Amino acid sequence: MGKLKEIVEQIGVEPTFRSIGGCEIKIPSPYCLVIFGAYGDLARKKLVPSLYRLHKGKLLPEKFFILGAGRKEMNNGQFIELMRGAVKSELPEDFDDSSWLEFGTKLYYLSFDFDVPESYIKLLKEKLIPLEKKHRTRENRMFYLATPPTVFKTVIHNLGLSGFAREEKGHAHIVIEKPFGHDLDSARRLNLVLKKYFNESQIFRIDHYIAKETVQNMLMFRFANSLFEPLWNSRYIDHVQITVSETLGVEDRASYYEEAGVIKDMFQSHIFQLLAMTAMEPPVAFEADRVRDEKIKVLYSIRPFPLDSLNEYIVIGQYGKGKINGNQVVGYREEPKVATKSTTPTFAAMKIFVDNWRWHGVPFYLRSGKRLSSRRTSISIHFKPVPYMMFSQFMEGAIEPNVLVFKIQPEEGISLTFQTKKPGSVVCLNGAAMDFSYQKGVFFDAYEWVLLDCMLGDEILFWKEEGVEQSWALLTPVIERLEATTEVEKFPNYEAGSAGPEEAALLIEKDGRSWRPL
Ligand code: BG6
Repeated sequence: MGKLKEIVEQIGVEPTFRSIGGCEIKIPSPYCLVIFGAYGDLARKKLVPSLYRLHKGKLLPEKFFILGAGRKEMNNGQFIELMRGAVKSELPEDFDDSSWLEFGTKLYYLSFDFDVPESYIKLLKEKLIPLEKKHRTRENRMFYLATPPTVFKTVIHNLGLSGFAREEKGHAHIVIEKPFGHDLDSARRLNLVLKKYFNESQIFRIDHYIAKETVQNMLMFRFANSLFEPLWNSRYIDHVQITVSETLGVEDRASYYEEAGVIKDMFQSHIFQLLAMTAMEPPVAFEADRVRDEKIKVLYSIRPFPLDSLNEYIVIGQYGKGKINGNQVVGYREEPKVATKSTTPTFAAMKIFVDNWRWHGVPFYLRSGKRLSSRRTSISIHFKPVPYMMFSQFMEGAIEPNVLVFKIQPEEGISLTFQTKKPGSVVCLNGAAMDFSYQKGVFFDAYEWVLLDCMLGDEILFWKEEGVEQSWALLTPVIERLEATTEVEKFPNYEAGSAGPEEAALLIEKDGRSWRPL
């Protein structure tokens, strides 16, 4: 082992795999990560803590460094101290001084003006090239845009003009955070700027939901077991529910959220991805383009919303004051920086049809909201009831149909409910559940996978251009119609800490079904 390490050090080759929990995880080649917006919320709360965990888990290459670029004036030392505080407060259990000391030697900072083209040349000549020489990262570069979306185009354009998109010796990957545009037009324009300089294989459009462990598991569950796939269609499935409920309110993000609202914030990206994973056909191989193409086909099969009878398909809401975990909270309109007559929705529920052979007539009910009674993300597959009541003389009411639930958060696992006979009775049915729960602590979180895959150049967890545009194509007319017709008096229409507006319950109840409790 000692000999191998010696040879590896001599020739500069790094180990390429690491075994974790019985799985081989690939380690990227030497890499440099440039984070634009290095002082922002995303960098402090998600990116740098995730990179620290990857470092601690020995999943980063040894030859690696992070260059933070931001408007704020500070030196390397100050940046390292700020990041140390951020990581410690985000990951109090994972943080330890000796890992940090090592990790801290890989952090650098550059005060940077995104709008000035000369800054990019300066970045390359004065900072990046010397650091790349020092860390021997072979010009493998990732440019992570953790800035506000308003500067995405400027940064991409300047990176392209300064030659950063060229892949002469190493990779040049560019990572774009959600929201990818704010409607179909802006998403198209953003794609055009990107494509002017970068190839599709260099572009990574992030949706951290796809990288969540149980969402990934959905593919394995569906396509690595022969048991469920034959039942995965309109013959056996009555309907599907997808819920992403949050107890959090808008927090300090009003300037973004007032523009976005729940449909852009949660449905266009995250929830449509969950829907596509649930409804897609089996891909011919577990390869990025094969998987992503199947997901895009689902988006093309979604029946467009009838704009003249939208309220039969979509309900929106906004939270008023109420109680979350016993504590009084204010309504959305009283949150800092929110307009007192805001009509931004913080809740939406939708009924969607996927018009293809597999899903003909099966409704997909989707809902998401802030300040609801609990934090829960799940996808539930509701099977059809048994075709006739053989036990009717022994029981009142119908037999509960089987439900398969993918629990995404806070618990992560899968559960299947079915009927059994209650012991000792003649005929007394009892609902039981078969539960599979992920063990905590053995795996990495969504952002960690996303960062790793981006360095490895594996695009399976990222949106393709066509996918983003198709999801905007479906939702842009809906959002525009809702914005034009929602009156100030309509909101608030649900109490913080509740299950959302009453109309959301009616949306599903008028079809003879009901939401799973939150
Ligand atoms: C983000 C949204 O993309 O996802 C937030 O902008 C939301 O509004 C968040 O709170 C939810 O993510 P998670 O991983 O905490 O469920």
